[in-house]
Amino acid sequence: MSEVGEVHDLDPEVFEREVRTFDHWFGAVQDYLSDLEHGHRADIASEELAADEVDRLTTALCNYAVAETAALEASSGLVRLAPNHASKIFLATQAVDEARHVEVILQRLEDIGVEDPAAEIERRANPAVREFKNRLLYLVDSNQWDLAIFAQNVSLEAMEFSAFRAHATVGDPVTCDMLERMLRDERRHLGFGENEIARCLRTDPSRGAQIASVKNELESLAINTFEYTAKELEVESDTITKLGRDYRDAVERLGL
Ligand SMILES: [Fe+2]
Ligand SMILES: [Fe+2]
Repeated sequence: MSEVGEVHDLDPEVFEREVRTFDHWFGAVQDYLSDLEHGHRADIASEELAADEVDRLTTALCNYAVAETAALEASSGLVRLAPNHASKIFLATQAVDEARHVEVILQRLEDIGVEDPAAEIERRANPAVREFKNRLLYLVDSNQWDLAIFAQNVSLEAMEFSAFRAHATVGDPVTCDMLERMLRDERRHLGFGENEIARCLRTDPSRGAQIASVKNELESLAINTFEYTAKELEVESDTITKLGRDYRDAVERLGL
């Protein structure tokens, strides 16, 4: 079973009672976020990267930065829309996770020699990831809870899941260690999205058509973003195909 598949096995009751708490969050992150330096283990020797490797890594990180900033802005906005305290608290933990992801990506850009990460992100971000961000923030700003949760906690998280795993097949040790720790957070976020969308559909099955329409609208943006960064990194085409399928499987599993 893929890692995405495991996320779907989380018991909805467990999510309701345990995962949506700071106790759970703190216990989970202590396990893999203690004693780090800029989001990765300090004792990993930094490889000397060739100029073309730095260039490819810079492009990938700039695109991740847009996706992570989208998640930071959306998850913090969603705290207000959440229908109950447990969901508000979970989204507050997610906002902290996403802020950390943005921070470590910016630090990694600086560590590989990018002097002005904000300007570089502006220059290198792919139109598909920018558009995804706009669509997600529109759903949040227009108070569409289930559609925004689908866009962020299913579509965006599943896309990042595929992108980071693709990167792990070719990346340098420091970046891979950093992404591996981010992935553990993303699994939690994806699990929340799966459970919340399933709950929304149980409560009101008529929402399925609208969620499916957002799914279709975002799919090409998510796949384009994933494929663009994976190709930039020269990930093998078989791996890109397999992880693209993982993205679709994660989204399809909701039966929309
Ligand atoms: Fe993230
Ligand atoms: Fe996330």
